[in-house]
Amino acid sequence: MYDDNITLLGVKKDIDETKQGEVLYFDQPTDGLKKFYIESYGCAMNFSDSEIVASILGGAGYGPTRDMESADLILVNTCSIREKAEENIRQRLSIFNKLKRQKPEVLIGVLGCMAERLKAKLLEQEKLVDIVVGPDAYRDLPNLLAKADEGDKGINVLLSREETYADISPLRLDSNGVIAYISIMRGCDNMCSFCVVPYTRGRERSRDAYSIVAEAKDLFDRGFREVTLLGQNVDSYKWSSPDDTEHVNFAQLLERVALVHPDLRIRFSTSHPKDITNDVLHTIAKYENICDYIHLPVQSGNSRILSLMNRTYDREWYMERVKAINEIIPDCAISADIITGFCTETEEEHQDTLSIIKWSRFSMSYMFYYSERPGTPAAKKLQDDVPEEIKKRRLQEVVDCQRLVSLEHNLADVGKVFKVLVEGDSKKSDQDFKGRNSQNKMINFPKVDGVKPGDYVMVEVTVANAGTLKGKVVN
Ligand code: 5AD
Ligand code: SF4
Repeated sequence: MYDDNITLLGVKKDIDETKQGEVLYFDQPTDGLKKFYIESYGCAMNFSDSEIVASILGGAGYGPTRDMESADLILVNTCSIREKAEENIRQRLSIFNKLKRQKPEVLIGVLGCMAERLKAKLLEQEKLVDIVVGPDAYRDLPNLLAKADEGDKGINVLLSREETYADISPLRLDSNGVIAYISIMRGCDNMCSFCVVPYTRGRERSRDAYSIVAEAKDLFDRGFREVTLLGQNVDSYKWSSPDDTEHVNFAQLLERVALVHPDLRIRFSTSHPKDITNDVLHTIAKYENICDYIHLPVQSGNSRILSLMNRTYDREWYMERVKAINEIIPDCAISADIITGFCTETEEEHQDTLSIIKWSRFSMSYMFYYSERPGTPAAKKLQDDVPEEIKKRRLQEVVDCQRLVSLEHNLADVGKVFKVLVEGDSKKSDQDFKGRNSQNKMINFPKVDGVKPGDYVMVEVTVANAGTLKGKVVN
């Protein structure tokens, strides 16, 4: 889902990463309104934030457009997770700048993690940018835009300990009307040594459980059939009522959302191996509509590297969590994030990563080579001493290994029948539908009469390769 040296195997997530970022829009009359155009990069949280931004802009008299040329306001919601992600965005900014030279009245805004990381420096470096807004300051957009209209550059990168945008009803951009994200928390307190997120998204805070359940209900009533609960570390979700009489943890939140309706599927991302509890696993097992799929980033299979990464678990702990998942939810698919070539990683330690992929039988992984981020603990304390060619070669080995494991995982599905939620036409043909099973695997199958997006159908898998499954509807 990230936009640089990532390789997607198994099943692609909802939002495909593209060089250009995803252009988000929604179908609504925009006559008489000023128009905004927004591109989003990086993680699902950024896509979800863009829907909050769209809602705030709606209140300020802006409607969305997919056409950059006709926009009064061009926004780019940015990602800083790796250097490549930032390079991509700079290239996009140079294209927006060209447009601004022809049409000086258009406003250009940088949102998200890069805005937060670079702050006022961004206004110095990118002369044609008008506003810079960090992830916790989107409510200030109307005010910053009004000032920018008068020619004043605007910046708000204040991070908050409270902001969760709980009361803002996101405008579902580019939606298929079937699946949606719900943000349940913001920020991260984990301090993995390689990661810039705690600095760009601030301290962890959980959103009011009632507002989450209300959003899920509203989506279901509007015809949506799947929600993904989003947070950097969902297992540490913890909300207390203002009078401190009610406390909700992640397992309890999952249960509350599952009870909205048995036909509403629940997914969640991202879990942390140190925090995922057996309570969460039992809740998943108890409710058919909580999907049997856990994204559980391992990062490395070697305990010394995990310790340098400050992941606060070791190889044995991770393996124990995988065992618990397999015991409590026998059909659960597990996927991972993996980094190759972290500081001081040896060949032997890299082999431990290959072996944990095979041992855990990940259905798919998001794989990256290490990219040092300024200001992170690793950048300050560790030497980025694995040469780039070695990082890339190890990445290729990880990709090849995962491809084989994904192939085996998918081949084991041939002949099985799965309940699939129809999402829409398949990428390749309008004669076929696509939809995912509980394990988050996308299956393409020929359309049958009477079935439409948002319906559940039983599909038998007939063909599999490392990346895709094909099947046919059965009764
Ligand atoms: N270099 C490479 N990959 C990184 N990730 C986070 N920071 C870095 C970095 N500096 C990866 C991790 C994380 C995913 C979202 O991105 O695998 O889980
Ligand atoms: Fe970054 Fe670690 Fe937090 Fe994930 S859990 S956002 S990798 S610091």
